[in-house]
Amino acid sequence: MRLLVTGGAGFIGSNFVHQTVRERPEVQVTVLDALTYAGDEQSLAPVADKVEFVKGDIADADLMDALVKDADAVVHFAAESHNDNSLSNPWPFVQTNVIGTYTILEAVRRHGTRLHHISTDEVYGDLELDDPAKFTPETPYNPSSPYSSTKAASDLLVRAWVRSFGVEATLSNCSNNYGPYQHVEKFIPRQITNVVDGVRPKLYGTGENVRDWIHVEDHNSAVWAILEKGRIGETYLIGADGEENNKNVVELILELTGQSRDAYDLVSDRPGHDLRYAIDSTLLREELGWTPRYENFRDGLAATIDWYKANEAWWRPQKDATEAKYAQLGR
Ligand code: NAD
Ligand code: DAU
Repeated sequence: MRLLVTGGAGFIGSNFVHQTVRERPEVQVTVLDALTYAGDEQSLAPVADKVEFVKGDIADADLMDALVKDADAVVHFAAESHNDNSLSNPWPFVQTNVIGTYTILEAVRRHGTRLHHISTDEVYGDLELDDPAKFTPETPYNPSSPYSSTKAASDLLVRAWVRSFGVEATLSNCSNNYGPYQHVEKFIPRQITNVVDGVRPKLYGTGENVRDWIHVEDHNSAVWAILEKGRIGETYLIGADGEENNKNVVELILELTGQSRDAYDLVSDRPGHDLRYAIDSTLLREELGWTPRYENFRDGLAATIDWYKANEAWWRPQKDATEAKYAQLGR
């Protein structure tokens, strides 16, 4: 199988490529990535001799056409992915998440190529803290931020191309991932690297917001299950029952790094901050037989802390610029 992976130099995409090379050596992987501030070719260094790397933009129609022509399937991770950035400057989100996905859809339509589209649980908006409900594939779309609204738009494009043009696509909407190679702008790596630097972790608002954490390897094993066994046109929600509020996560990071559990600061809240996400992954588990491997969040987090401590050379070049952006926002 010849597999084209967009966004393969980012957090989830690079982990997907590592896992694929390790577990499915027969798959020929080509990575297409624009190497934006969020992409790093170093994230692919351990597999550099086993995959082809192409630097380019998913919104470049000629390039997409040429790469899709030579692929049996496309897994589409490439996106602008950070909510805070989308509040400061929404345009790259519209360009990459909407126009970029449209460009991929037109290429797979022309060549009859199988597509798996990676998306987020944020398309469903948020839940109350005390609501027993979780997101299901039937939950109406209700995105809050420029990021999540452009991801919602991209999902709707994929669904329309399946129905109107017979494109062979599946979709997945996953909850918050954690693990190695995640950019230091994101919550968990930001707090771990702050502690390494002797800086107090920063919690938005009151810290009561809840995220449904899943280890990146569990997200990617679900993507493979969908790619191999998923029904065309179906949307699968990916989650591992990992609900934690942000305060608990910061306290756990402090405890696991030998600090006092209250050594953090509350900072100003993110505008429009979604309160709670929670995934019902019954369809994925029952129809495709998927189960997560990393069911103990504390152990997964401890391993992630160890990875950041051991791989400072990977994240250090991004840290100052990232914190300078947050300083401008007062966070
Ligand atoms: P990331 O920001 O770490 O990586 C995105 C990658 O896409 C980067 O390598 C970047 O260079 C590349 N890219 C951006 N614009 C591009 C363009 N125009 N052309 C080609 N490449 C481009 O993001 P991530 O956290 O790995 O997220 C990957 C996907 O998973 C996204 O679609 C995101 O919406 C989705 N997702 C993320 C999470 C999460 O918790 N991180 C959860 C659910 C879904
Ligand atoms: O739910 C899936 C989504 O998860 C993905 O679609 C996004 O690409 C991914 O970035 C993530 O979005 P969040 O906005 O939930 O992730 P982030 O890491 O930015 O923040 C997680 C929570 O932590 C959120 O409630 C905001 C809070 N936060 C974040 C930062 C950076 C803090 O309290 N302090 C911080 O310094």
